[in-house]
Amino acid sequence: MKDHLTRRNFLAATGTAALATTITTGHAAEAGGDLPLRILGIACSSRKGMSTAKAVQAALDAAKAVNPRIEVELIDLGGLRIAGWSPNPTQDDFDAILPKLNDPQLGGLIIGSPAYFRSLSSLCKAFIERCMPLREGGKPLVDKPVGALAVAGNRNGGQELVVQQILTAMLSYSMVPVGGKSPAMLGGTLWNDKDDVTQDETGMQSAKLLGTHVAELALKLAGNP
Ligand SMILES: Cc1cc2nc3c(=O)[nH]c(=O)nc-3n(C[C@H](O)[C@H](O)[C@H](O)COP(=O)(O)O)c2cc1C
Repeated sequence: MKDHLTRRNFLAATGTAALATTITTGHAAEAGGDLPLRILGIACSSRKGMSTAKAVQAALDAAKAVNPRIEVELIDLGGLRIAGWSPNPTQDDFDAILPKLNDPQLGGLIIGSPAYFRSLSSLCKAFIERCMPLREGGKPLVDKPVGALAVAGNRNGGQELVVQQILTAMLSYSMVPVGGKSPAMLGGTLWNDKDDVTQDETGMQSAKLLGTHVAELALKLAGNP
């Protein structure tokens, strides 16, 4: 509550430019000194271990290389049963994922989705909807960086739209949307031609630049410049 009042007052007085400074104080106290910061990568293709998972893993590898404090974990949703939000929830595979998101050492998220009809996958949407409980309690997603990447079968198959959809949705959790480092300003945009996304050097580089930026910002927000 104190954080929110501080943040609101701060925004009113100075605008968003200096927001990171306020957040830094809060996170440094919460995350504490040099404890690990965990970046979770969420791969939201129905096809486990395919292009989207490979791209998210590349982003995570780049994130890990930034600093020894950074830990990474890929959560591949391929093959998992995750329904969208419902007022009458039944148990499914999201139950095993929720504690990982609730971890106080969570440093940030990298969410990857294939472009399905120029949109994020239904699995990705279901994942985002099911994060609803994280808006309550310790609010572990608030003020944490989130980056997004998208893989499509065509060079211009909707990747940028999908990245924007994911980042826009995650604003609902008060996460801090992060693009990649230049020239991958928006995030990861990859072309899966013939089911070998590693052939798309520019796209793979965009995923890596995204991972680097998410990790750098996670460290800054946790008081580690
Ligand atoms: C239902 C469906 C819809 C798709 N829609 C698009 C699309 O709008 N644009 C595009 O370029 N590729 C489209 N694709 C191709 C996928 O984006 C592409 O194969 C991607 O690599 C899938 O991710 P994965 O390799 O991680 O499974 C579609 C594929 C499926 C199965």
